[in-house]
Amino acid sequence: MKEEDWRVLKIIEISMRYYEWVPMPEIIKKTKLDKKEILYRLKILDKFKLINRSSYGYRLSHRGYDALALNAFVKKGIITAIGGKLGVGKEGDVYNILLSNNREAVLKFHNLGRTCFTRGKRYRSYLADKRHISWLYASRLTAEKEFEVLTDLFPIVKVPEPIEQNRHAIIMGKLKGDELKRVDLKQLDIDINKLFWGIINEVKKMYELGYIHGDLSEFNILIDEDGNFTIIDFPQAIKIKEDKDEKLKLNKLPGEFKVDIEFYLKRDLENLLRYFKKYGINENLDAIYKYIVEK
Ligand SMILES: Nc1ncnc2c1ncn2[C@@H]1O[C@H](COP(=O)(O)OP(=O)(O)O)[C@@H](O)[C@H]1O
Ligand SMILES: [Mg+2]
Repeated sequence: MKEEDWRVLKIIEISMRYYEWVPMPEIIKKTKLDKKEILYRLKILDKFKLINRSSYGYRLSHRGYDALALNAFVKKGIITAIGGKLGVGKEGDVYNILLSNNREAVLKFHNLGRTCFTRGKRYRSYLADKRHISWLYASRLTAEKEFEVLTDLFPIVKVPEPIEQNRHAIIMGKLKGDELKRVDLKQLDIDINKLFWGIINEVKKMYELGYIHGDLSEFNILIDEDGNFTIIDFPQAIKIKEDKDEKLKLNKLPGEFKVDIEFYLKRDLENLLRYFKKYGINENLDAIYKYIVEK
């Protein structure tokens, strides 16, 4: 793709703030290219499926948004190669990449609009002032959020190292291992009780730094063959203080806020307890909860 192709694509991206379908006159005005050339560029973008078109105009496709983020990383000299898909997540794909310093890393795209808005409600409070919530904006917001959480937690808590963020994409350190869900712990030469308490202690550190994971389960903990684990997947993390401020703004009582924090933390802990019960760990939810929230 030529510079001009990227330029047209970026203009469509920017104009999507105001249009669901960006009309041709707008593209002409913003790019200052003539219609014939724009039509030619649009044909290329269409061929690569980077845009969608309708009788109203043009809009960026999910793939187009991915391409813009990827291009930004390449232009900044961060990524030199992209490899296979590591996982197809609920809201985006994760790829193996090579950084310019030859280090392996992973690239995670957040694509909120692809599946319906499952976690939508919580984000909506952020987006309350926007009448039209575009998937573009929502996806970028969740990537920013995840990057911010990782930055706050790494390296104190065992989470991937945040490396770069652009639009709806984040680059983070690559971890070895598999999701707990896919591993039979009995096949590993590890002390399962120690692993359980190791994870609980990370949750406690997270809490002390002001966060609750919010989607903690055997799907979002990676473990390698030596039993080293890492907690991943933070877009829905709950920032304890921020939520408090938000609730206060909505004129809710501090007591209600407390219930919410307790609700989310206990839900995370319940998932862990349920998983580890299969391995003979029988701990009490309230006792673990107390252990985490008490200094
Ligand atoms: N830093 C990483 N290193 C290695 N694999 C990762 C990393 N981050 C994610 N993955 C893989 O990609 C999958 C999806 O990532 P995740 O952050 O959990 O997103 P989702 O919201 O889609 O579940 C994970 O279950 C894991 O297999
Ligand atoms: Mg996940």
